[in-house]
Amino acid sequence: MLALRLIERKRDGGRIDAGEWRALANAYAAGHVPDYQMAAFLMACFLRGMDRGETAALTEAMLRSGDTLDLAYLDKPRIDKHSTGGVGDKVSIVLAPLIASLGVAVPMMSGRGLGHTGGTLDKLESIPGFRTDLSLAEAKQQLETLDCALIGQTAEIAPADRKMYALRDATGTIEAIPLIAASIMSKKLAEGLTGLVLDVKRGSGAFLPELDRGLELARTMIELGADHGTPVVALLTAMDRPLGRACGNALEVEESILALRGEGPPDLMSVTYALGAEMLVLAGAASDHDAARRRMEQAIGTGRAAEHFQKIIEAQGGNPAVVDDPALLPQAAEVELYASARRGFVARVEPRAVGRGITALGGGRTTMEDSLDLSVGFMISVRPGDWVEQGEPMATIFARDRAGVESGKAALRTAITVADEADPPLPLVSHRVTAAGAELLVGT
Ligand code: URA
Repeated sequence: MLALRLIERKRDGGRIDAGEWRALANAYAAGHVPDYQMAAFLMACFLRGMDRGETAALTEAMLRSGDTLDLAYLDKPRIDKHSTGGVGDKVSIVLAPLIASLGVAVPMMSGRGLGHTGGTLDKLESIPGFRTDLSLAEAKQQLETLDCALIGQTAEIAPADRKMYALRDATGTIEAIPLIAASIMSKKLAEGLTGLVLDVKRGSGAFLPELDRGLELARTMIELGADHGTPVVALLTAMDRPLGRACGNALEVEESILALRGEGPPDLMSVTYALGAEMLVLAGAASDHDAARRRMEQAIGTGRAAEHFQKIIEAQGGNPAVVDDPALLPQAAEVELYASARRGFVARVEPRAVGRGITALGGGRTTMEDSLDLSVGFMISVRPGDWVEQGEPMATIFARDRAGVESGKAALRTAITVADEADPPLPLVSHRVTAAGAELLVGT
């Protein structure tokens, strides 16, 4: 009866109080509310909206529906980074070992790819043997020894969110800022952090493409962090083209390894350093962004960051030799160059079309149950604004068979536009948002 009463109230524009959010989240996590009622309730929330108090109450209710990681005993800063998701976004795989190698604990809880976006867990699982299903006890132990654990949302963490997020994904109720903010923050607050850095994507490949919606999402999550005494800093970064060159699971791990060895593409390194600097400053491990950047460059230049990644891989059951020899990652059977059909400027490299192309190759999911071919994907060597000649290679397709190569070509024909002129792409890192407000870093 509780669920029906709350659905009717929300449908009619009413408010749900904190006790009711708690009762509903717990009942749903325990299986006492059927999916059809929760779906109707979430749609009412999506259409009617939620006020600030309701968003905070839902966050708290989902957070308290499960266990939390109590890491205060580590007696050191504990900082995570969360991205709202994109194509080619492998920053977590670079940042986690890099920041942990500098003595900051990084309890990084990531997700799987869905829709056009990739997921850090799938990417990591392309490392032979790598386990992302550590229990909370195992994650804690690894944080004690290596300052880092790369894990998925375990069954113990925010179980109400886990069920609700999957249901929202299937019922058209993802793109509501209060629901997104509560979902992300319930999991992040369960990690026992002393600070959180958010990478809020904007542009055509982001799931909230418009700048004002990205800023609102950032502000909402910052406020939810403040409710729990957790400082949160958000950077708005570009997702109007893929990040880096590699798009696809094993290919992105290889590019992350190159980045940790100092050979990463410039755009990936810029976003990684910008987010990493925020992490180190929040942790008190650097006095300002320039000092933070010097520490990160040194960790990469000396090989310390790459070595730390090897240790994490080994601790999580993977083959650490991939860091020295990325050819040990899954390799696609068919590899073919994709060339430009005309001369001109690269006007667009559309992330959604690239992401859908990866799914068509077998490297992405349409449902959570899909199994993936981790070897497939694209290496895209051109960026918007580049000049190309007719016949010049713009990308490489990695596929499991000839049919895959053909589907990869079709995807790239849709994704990459060459024209007589090109609009400038979005700035890579455009805004910095903190509890004090939003700061424009470069032109929008
Ligand atoms: N990621 C989440 O974890 N939850 C959302 O609602 C959207 C993105």
